[in-house]
Amino acid sequence: MYPLRRNRRLRATQAIRSLVQETTISPNDFQTPLFVVEGKNIKDEISSMPGYYRFSLDRLVEEVKLIWSLGIKSVLLFVKVEHHLKDNKGTEAINPNGLMQRAIKTVKDAVPAMLVMTDVALDPYSIFGHDGIVEKGKILNDASVDILSQMALSHAQAGADFVAPSDMMDGRILAIRETLEHEGYYDTGIMSYSAKYASAFYGPFRDALDSAPVDTQDIPKDKKTYQMDIANRTEAIRETQMDIDEGADIVMVKPGLCYLDIVRDLKNTFDIPIAVYQVSGEYAMIKAAAQRGWLDENAVIMEQSMAIKRAGADIISSYYSKDIARLIANL
Ligand code: PBG
Repeated sequence: MYPLRRNRRLRATQAIRSLVQETTISPNDFQTPLFVVEGKNIKDEISSMPGYYRFSLDRLVEEVKLIWSLGIKSVLLFVKVEHHLKDNKGTEAINPNGLMQRAIKTVKDAVPAMLVMTDVALDPYSIFGHDGIVEKGKILNDASVDILSQMALSHAQAGADFVAPSDMMDGRILAIRETLEHEGYYDTGIMSYSAKYASAFYGPFRDALDSAPVDTQDIPKDKKTYQMDIANRTEAIRETQMDIDEGADIVMVKPGLCYLDIVRDLKNTFDIPIAVYQVSGEYAMIKAAAQRGWLDENAVIMEQSMAIKRAGADIISSYYSKDIARLIANL
């Protein structure tokens, strides 16, 4: 009771503040998403993600080495698929010599110890920009799960350490796990996008990969029939429980900042590592404000990272991961 207890005593100096600090972040907490394109000597800035790039395989090497040198030990790979290779079946997604499969090998050759995770979903490969196969205006579940399992297997065969299904089809974790087991990939892990919301924050990512749902009659223009309703909270528990039961090693909440209540719910409910994806729109918002001088970018990204970790994240996938690692090193 005041004045016996004066809370400001514990805030008086940097020394006492660091002594009682409850949450810390380190580069070990972070994973870097990477966008890969076909071609040579390409480092192409994404217009809605200033300071973030698509890399051709030759330029990916230097980037991966840089990421490793900053103390970040994991990357999450995405590919921009050339238009002529897109269809409605994900044919290119299982090409053993496809861009993703070559990207996995490129990263592993550049930095063998780097933990490589890969995105598993059809959208970059889909002429309709959907995460699964489209038929009569619907995104088919079980047919999509079949191809997604083959896709995950193909990534494992190319050397991926973890596959990260972001498609939100029902039952895909079990199907992928069984496929991997059946083919002997016991050690390939699954990071499941378990609570992935139908968010408006994915816009810049879809620019980066040219993967937005097409605006055509009779085809859903959004992903609300498979991604979660932004209004729902308990559903996240149900989704995540299922993914854990089906064999997920790591579960994920996505996007980040708007969904930290979900992160805490999962942290309090499950004893399994939780990843949080601070998505492209979150990056773009901070960048835009920082470029105008309206926000202190470094302070804001540290604050957001701390908030995500404090909410319960064990892993943070962030376009700011390199910046964060540099900021931590300079402290
Ligand atoms: C594709 C996928 C998306 C993201 C990760 N995997 C986009 C989407 O679901 O439309 C979003 C990442 C970001 O916005 O940074 N299944």
